[in-house]
Amino acid sequence: MPQTNIMALNKHANPVIAAVMFIFMFSYAAAYDPLDPNGNITIKWDVISWTPDGYVAVVTMTNFQMYRHIMSPGWTLGWVWAKKEVIWSMVGAQATEQGDCSKFTSSIPHCCKRNPTIVDLLPGVPYNQQIANCCKGGVVSSWGQDPSAAVSSFQVSVGRSGTSNKTVKLPKNFTLTGPGPGYTCSQAKIVPSTVFMSPDGRRKTHAWMTWNVTCTYSQLLVSQYPKCCVSFSSFYNSTITPCPTCACGCQDKTTCVE
Ligand SMILES: *[C@@H]1O[C@H](CO)[C@@H](O)[C@H](O)[C@H]1NC(C)=O
Ligand SMILES: *[C@@H]1O[C@H](CO)[C@@H](O)[C@H](O)[C@H]1NC(C)=O
Ligand SMILES: *[C@@H]1O[C@H](CO)[C@@H](O)[C@H](O)[C@H]1NC(C)=O
Ligand SMILES: *[C@@H]1O[C@H](CO)[C@@H](O)[C@H](O)[C@H]1NC(C)=O
Ligand SMILES: *[C@@H]1O[C@H](CO)[C@@H](O)[C@H](O)[C@H]1NC(C)=O
Repeated sequence: MPQTNIMALNKHANPVIAAVMFIFMFSYAAAYDPLDPNGNITIKWDVISWTPDGYVAVVTMTNFQMYRHIMSPGWTLGWVWAKKEVIWSMVGAQATEQGDCSKFTSSIPHCCKRNPTIVDLLPGVPYNQQIANCCKGGVVSSWGQDPSAAVSSFQVSVGRSGTSNKTVKLPKNFTLTGPGPGYTCSQAKIVPSTVFMSPDGRRKTHAWMTWNVTCTYSQLLVSQYPKCCVSFSSFYNSTITPCPTCACGCQDKTTCVE
């Protein structure tokens, strides 16, 4: 916990100063990365069709951070369903656990958990399990390094959900690891529907409905963990940020454990 950590660091210091520092750090802890203060990872859900009991969505994760890429073993994405939704099937990713699907008899969903955890597939899966930008073992480049590789996508078919833009309920409480802790995600928010352009640029289509979630990185969330130097060097390419010049996040050097 941040409290214990900071209090422990300051156990010999003036308690007023310690309290002020705690407030200062806590106010930044929600989301702040000193090297890329506006960086974020955006997760966009495009509903591409409604089905008799739900919808099919293409979920696209774009890493807009300039420096921080997601390295092996890759991202995990979680959320909590608003109602009793299930995942009938996925393309380009999979839920890590099926959960309790015992109520289903004829066709069995891919995942019945209320809080599914999704991981990317590994490269080389059969062609019919792939979609564009999937299947990279969850590895995503930073925008600064290679925008074309800063995207990861999968398709999810959701059942027992609303079947129109008036009845669908957005998933809640998104969590992202990349691969360690550090990301805080916003609530999903309905945004203007994505317009898709055909490859020849001669035809436009649009998603039936689109919602976005924005996740931001905080070094302080990571530095709650004692091995901050190790995680720092593994999140950043060492040629960009040598360790240990600023191993604990640089906002306030006095809080660094030497
Ligand atoms: C996420 O980053 C992109 C690119 O830097 C920026 O345009 C967008 O405003 C950011 N979104 C939020 C919610 O900060
Ligand atoms: C819902 O879909 C209908 C028909 O496609 C559209 O006219 C309407 O603007 C949509 N509403 C919202 C809130 O997106
Ligand atoms: C989402 O998170 C909030 C705050 O952590 C919690 O109060 C709420 O119960 C969670 N919602 C669900 C559906 O788990
Ligand atoms: C939603 O996310 C996409 C990136 O996937 C971004 O281009 C778009 O601007 C975002 N929309 C809003 C309203 O934040
Ligand atoms: C770090 O970035 C440099 C330059 O972009 C690249 O040549 C090098 O391979 C990268 N190293 C790692 C470990 O990713």
